[in-house]
Amino acid sequence: MRLVLVGPPGAGKGTQAQFLAAHYSIPHISTGDIFRANLKAGTPLGLQAKGFMDKGELVPDSVTNEMVKDRLTHDDVANGFLFDGFPRNVAQAEVLRAILAEKKTPLHAVLEFSLANEEIVARLSSRRTCKECGQPSVGHDKCPQCGGDVYQREDDKAEVIARRLEVYQEQTAPIVSFYRNEGLLITVGALGSVEDITAHAISALSRVSE
Ligand code: AP5
Repeated sequence: MRLVLVGPPGAGKGTQAQFLAAHYSIPHISTGDIFRANLKAGTPLGLQAKGFMDKGELVPDSVTNEMVKDRLTHDDVANGFLFDGFPRNVAQAEVLRAILAEKKTPLHAVLEFSLANEEIVARLSSRRTCKECGQPSVGHDKCPQCGGDVYQREDDKAEVIARRLEVYQEQTAPIVSFYRNEGLLITVGALGSVEDITAHAISALSRVSE
């Protein structure tokens, strides 16, 4: 299965991606996670991305597209992949379409998670992220998954959340129409329990032929 998850910041893409990737036995590729891992490791890519991420702006396409092109050369994508946070604008969507066309492995579906802004702001302002494994959680002093220390992402501060929502509307939302026109879009409501949302997504994807 070759999938893209799209949706506003905090819609639960990363949370759902873990379950969907496990269900379909495909790698979960989060461009945000790759940037954060590089930042933690102090690589030039991480340092370059930080300035944009901390302000809620997109990292330049030249950087992101090269990183994705490289990721798609790894052996683990042979049976599919799930992108979370990429593409994030129409130019990135066109680059992805061209890479996959060349490999003759087009996308099967694009899953859009929709959620009202009030719930997004509530989720992101209460989210804490594990310094060790990156898992998000709410209301814990230590990561419930690995016991690591948790911190508040710089981009989960109120003023940056507001900017991320603007960037989503201006730059990312147009890819929803792009993928609708390609006949690939499936929309799932992102309000409800994590388990119910996963079940809805899997049910909707069962109608997509691989
Ligand atoms: P990225 O890391 O991709 O952030 P995002 O898209 O803004 O998404 P989030 O990680 O904030 O939210 P999510 O939808 O994954 O929700 P989550 O599951 O955590 O990108 C960060 C930055 O990197 C960008 O701003 C940009 O600078 C850069 N970047 C990344 N990709 C790029 C690209 N392609 N091009 C250019 N720049 C790029 O859930 C949120 C919270 O809600 C959590 O606390 C979770 O526990 C909770 N939650 C989840 N599901 C539920 C539920 N059903 N009910 C209640 N709570 C829930």
